[in-house]
Amino acid sequence: MSGQQLWDDVDDYFISNLSPDDEALRAALRESESAGLPAIAVTAAQGKLLQLLAQVQGARTVLEIGTLGGYSTIWLARALPEDGRLVSLEYSARHAEVATRNIARAGLERIAEVRVGPALESLPKLADENPAPFDLVFIDADKANNGHYVEWALRLTRAGSLIVLDNVVRGGRVADADSTEPDVVGTRTAIELIASHPRLSGTAIQTVGAKGYDGFALARVLG
Ligand code: SAH
Ligand code: DHB
Ligand code: MG
Repeated sequence: MSGQQLWDDVDDYFISNLSPDDEALRAALRESESAGLPAIAVTAAQGKLLQLLAQVQGARTVLEIGTLGGYSTIWLARALPEDGRLVSLEYSARHAEVATRNIARAGLERIAEVRVGPALESLPKLADENPAPFDLVFIDADKANNGHYVEWALRLTRAGSLIVLDNVVRGGRVADADSTEPDVVGTRTAIELIASHPRLSGTAIQTVGAKGYDGFALARVLG
């Protein structure tokens, strides 16, 4: 056995042992599917990784860019204390509605809030509110804007905050320096910004699993 079937089997093994779902998470995926949302949420193993990162961070505040049906939102919000705050930005009003219901069903409506609109419009509005710095930022929206999202994440965080980007590998397309695909260009811009920025220290890790061959980038904000 090899390739995707093997990656699925290994993910099933790890997930059933280490990141079992529960009714709220299952319902979030079920309701997302019946509302016709694409099945592109993080896996349970990846959701648990985000939750562990937020916990290791001692996070009280999380900013998410790209909500979909709120599946990753639930994993992250569960890492926060009762008076914690998660703001999730979503372009699609329909996705945001499904997510808001899923978040409420998970009992997280006092922690997690979904804001509708293109993130590049929501981010300046959020900054105008002078929010407490976000301890963790999860970037998982339109990859073409990944460079802009890292720049905004820098403005909205503090020394010690963590920035996480999903889908930085995309089957290996990130390595194509000649690519004109906006998603690839956006992710390469983000990676090169992390590499060159004096206030960022980062890495990127390739992954395989139920979502195929992809990866995460991580960057710590320095003082
Ligand atoms: N984080 C989610 C998956 C997000 S999928 C999870 O793992 O559960 C990407 C989402 O980003 C989609 O819902 C899409 O509508 C949204 N999106 C796309 N372009 C956007 C933009 N410009 N601003 C905000 N959200 C955007
Ligand atoms: C897509 C987006 C994602 O955030 C993801 O994790 C997988 C796929 C997509 O747009 O195809
Ligand atoms: Mg993603």
